Amino acid sequence: MNLPLPGKPDCCWVASAPRTDYPALSGAQDCDVVIVGAGIVGLTTALSLIAAGRSVIVLEARRVGRQVTGRSSAKITAQHGLIYRHLIDAFDRERAQAYANANRTALTMIRTWISDFDIACEYEPKSAYTYTCDSSRMGDIQREAEAARDLGFDARVLDRAPLPFATAGALEFPDQAQFNPARYLVGLAHAVEARGGRIYEQSRAKSFEPDKGWRIGTDYGTVHARQVVIATNITVKSPVGYANRTQPRSHVVMAFRTENPAAVDGMFISIDDPTHSIRTGRDADGPVILTLGPRFNTGQDGDVAHRFRDLEAWTRAHLPVREAVWRWCNEDYDTADRVPYVGQPDPKEAPGFFVATGFNGWGISNGTAAGLQIASEIASGSRRWGKLYDPNRPAPEDFHQSGDTQSLVDDLARIALGQGGVITRGEEKIAVWRDEGGHLHAVSASCTHKGCTVTWNNADRTWDCPCHGSMFERDGTVIHGPAREPLAPREV
Ligand SMILES: Cc1cc2nc3c(=O)[nH]c(=O)nc-3n(C[C@H](O)[C@H](O)[C@H](O)COP(=O)(O)OP(=O)(O)OC[C@H]3O[C@@H](n4cnc5c(N)ncnc54)[C@H](O)[C@@H]3O)c2cc1C
Ligand code: FES
Repeated sequence: MNLPLPGKPDCCWVASAPRTDYPALSGAQDCDVVIVGAGIVGLTTALSLIAAGRSVIVLEARRVGRQVTGRSSAKITAQHGLIYRHLIDAFDRERAQAYANANRTALTMIRTWISDFDIACEYEPKSAYTYTCDSSRMGDIQREAEAARDLGFDARVLDRAPLPFATAGALEFPDQAQFNPARYLVGLAHAVEARGGRIYEQSRAKSFEPDKGWRIGTDYGTVHARQVVIATNITVKSPVGYANRTQPRSHVVMAFRTENPAAVDGMFISIDDPTHSIRTGRDADGPVILTLGPRFNTGQDGDVAHRFRDLEAWTRAHLPVREAVWRWCNEDYDTADRVPYVGQPDPKEAPGFFVATGFNGWGISNGTAAGLQIASEIASGSRRWGKLYDPNRPAPEDFHQSGDTQSLVDDLARIALGQGGVITRGEEKIAVWRDEGGHLHAVSASCTHKGCTVTWNNADRTWDCPCHGSMFERDGTVIHGPAREPLAPREV
């Protein structure tokens, strides 16, 4: 359980992107639109609103582009597994067409901005492939191809995926792309700033007060604006709750050195169980092959480390890789119908309050489309893709599945060096980790979002909430999720 995992515990895109150093917000500021979150949604919205003549302020809790977007597999594609047949069946052809159009527009926007703003982000055109190793799934591939062609895609069925292992077949969308998403977002941030947008980092939005518009407060400052856009991946505040309409899901990701990067030419995702995703890329030292393991509910697995070992074993069995050089976890939020929630949830009671969440692991294109749609709704009152992303769609009550901590221990002595566990003291649960020198460090195990008890992630060494996916550093600092406050310090 406590054996070292292969690879550096960081994301190769983030590690090789230039660092940003925007100031923290202080004092009182005004603008037309305040955007909370400098991921792909926030920065796309900011740039689009500036182009429409609005003044914007972006508040980022941590650093630009280093969270979900920066740590994704960053395939820029409108091929989202088997999505189009599902959309036609679950909604109708019109909604499926809107989804195709939104994501195609996003692909074009990303390519255009990379060129216009000269963003060095290793953009490479590639085909996207959805593949199966199970011949009984070829009917699903065929049906998806027909649906996609009907919606205007050049969708090709192949009798094998161009991978160095046997597959039963694949669906190819040519002319998609991949990039380094952290570099892209740093480039977008520069473009926002160069056009007069103000960006503040290390500025977590904590209060959201209606006040002839919205007044957003951080620890050291406030911003007043007519509209606020909550671009925090999962909403940290909303007139309509999304934590129970969405399901947080995590993946483990590894990057391996390879002698033969050409062995993988394209971006691949399987529809088999367990599923894997594959692409190439590069870090500062050369080419890498990247693989992703199957999804799991955040905070509901007490041994994330074994997922890295399984992924390493799978990768070595299937691809020509040498040593693992990077490894990391990343999290996104699913929706029941596989379509994000984007827009103004309550225009009557909370006018000017916009959200974007639930990207189902496909937020590079959907997140870009979300930013474009919010900007056009603010600037011109028009929703570019109609009802597609309707933020008021209900979700089935049993879709969201909270869990419980996986880390309870009855004795501190059971916590190994470098590991964590949750102990019970009276009525309270305390999250304790033991550093490499044997010293114990404790925080409340009660998540500051809605009080669920956190789980120790034994690979990333974070505290992860099994209810709505908040993640905290070992010292309790918020990393990600709906929580806005740290886990409170405790004595042991
Ligand atoms: C493993 C994995 C692989 C993926 N691969 C792909 C892929 O290949 N293609 C694809 O299309 N999609 C992919 N996705 C999905 C995609 O990465 C996400 O949907 C998308 O990046 C989400 O963007 P975002 O702007 O919502 O979130 P983020 O990039 O996380 O941005 C949100 C920002 O808000 C900040 N923030 C949070 N709270 C506050 C606050 N209170 N105040 C101020 N700032 C705050 C955060 O620090 C963060 O910087 C993947 C997801 C995962 C988990
Ligand atoms: S994220 Fe909601 S209770 Fe922890």
